[in-house]
Amino acid sequence: MLNFDFKNPTKIIFGKGQMAVLPKEIPADAKILLLYGGGSIKKNGIYEQVKEALSDFEVVEFGGIPANPEYQVLLKALEIIKSEKITFLLAVGGGSVIDGTKFLSSAALYEGEDPWEILKKPIRTFVGMPFGCVLTLPATGSEMNSGAVITRADSKEKLGMGGPGLFPQFSILDPEVIQSIPVRQLENGIVDAFNHVLEQYITFPAGASLQDRFAESILQTLIEVGPKVIENPSDYAAASNFMWSCTMALNGLIQKGVPTDWAVHAIGHELTALFGIDHARTLAIIGPNHYQYNFEAKKEKLAQYAERVWGISNGSVEEKAQAGIDKTKSFYTQLNVSYKLSDYTADYNGVATTIANRLDARGWVKLGENKNITPKDVEKIVEMSY
Ligand code: NZQ
Ligand code: ZN
Repeated sequence: MLNFDFKNPTKIIFGKGQMAVLPKEIPADAKILLLYGGGSIKKNGIYEQVKEALSDFEVVEFGGIPANPEYQVLLKALEIIKSEKITFLLAVGGGSVIDGTKFLSSAALYEGEDPWEILKKPIRTFVGMPFGCVLTLPATGSEMNSGAVITRADSKEKLGMGGPGLFPQFSILDPEVIQSIPVRQLENGIVDAFNHVLEQYITFPAGASLQDRFAESILQTLIEVGPKVIENPSDYAAASNFMWSCTMALNGLIQKGVPTDWAVHAIGHELTALFGIDHARTLAIIGPNHYQYNFEAKKEKLAQYAERVWGISNGSVEEKAQAGIDKTKSFYTQLNVSYKLSDYTADYNGVATTIANRLDARGWVKLGENKNITPKDVEKIVEMSY
């Protein structure tokens, strides 16, 4: 096992009816900016619940943060934070609203000229404006981690940021919200969380038995409850296990003591930046080909995955490893998530080179757990995904 340090200060408030505790988690004298997305919270009753819970507070609202949170939109919220002298941010939404709020938490206290530098350089955030979350869509784990991904449409960029100052103070997770989520977003949530685990697990053996079993248990749980949630979003047992699996997949715990990959996300983000493809679907497109391309380096963990997660006990290491990749693809098909780029855009010709050049220009020339995946390799992986 590798050395590590681990601190996660986010308080999770999990379960039915937990919105009631919201007022107790925010300082009584706070001036709150309530941040939300395109309006789903106004259709499913979450907006009313939040407003009722905050009735004793001074609240300013900012709605309209789009999926793949857009920098220019967030700058408008930043102006409000400054002009209204906001002291606390409350994100009510999925990963996009929470990530947008993390950017604002950082930008509100940023002393430099141009807040884009937080993403471009990037600059780590050690102290941000305090914020909490009401999670409406299980998927990203953003509700219990300190990372964010922000999009800039004018330059077609999608860049990450983070730092120990960007953990939410609290996150309210009520699995009953799942009843209102469109099927496509449920499918996305399962695939995103699944890939978060794979990025921290399909690497090389590091003698971290407990970490491996944490990872495997999350994968097994997603395989078990994912299809049930899609079939019946009112199945509370399935919904609650799905929600907690998504949080556990990316709250930092399972990455401790093990090598991590994250090449699939790095490449996938480019597909979202270029084509607007849903984040999770870009991972389905790139993941299996990334594992195929890096088969030799990853075959031991792929075989372990096939054996322990999919129950494949026969065959050589190579045969099991291949079965692991094939099972992953079948799972995506079962979830109605295509792993072929050409199913999302007709405009894919040459995109492998474009992505390789973009990564090269940014200096992202050594991806993966072995830091040996070059832009040339990325080009081949993307080509395999057409
Ligand atoms: O905007 P509204 O109207 O709220 O609608 C949203 C949005 O259209 C809708 N939705 C959310 N909760 C709902 C709901 N609709 C009905 N009922 C509900 N209860 O779902 C749509 C997608 O929302 P979004 O927040 O974009 O989805 P998700 O949670 O999948 O977040 C994706 C974003 O997170 C980033 C992605 O890159 C992407 O920008 N990621 C963040 C990570 C992190 N911070 O750790 C890690 C991830 O790997 C990922 O990169
Ligand atoms: Zn993801």
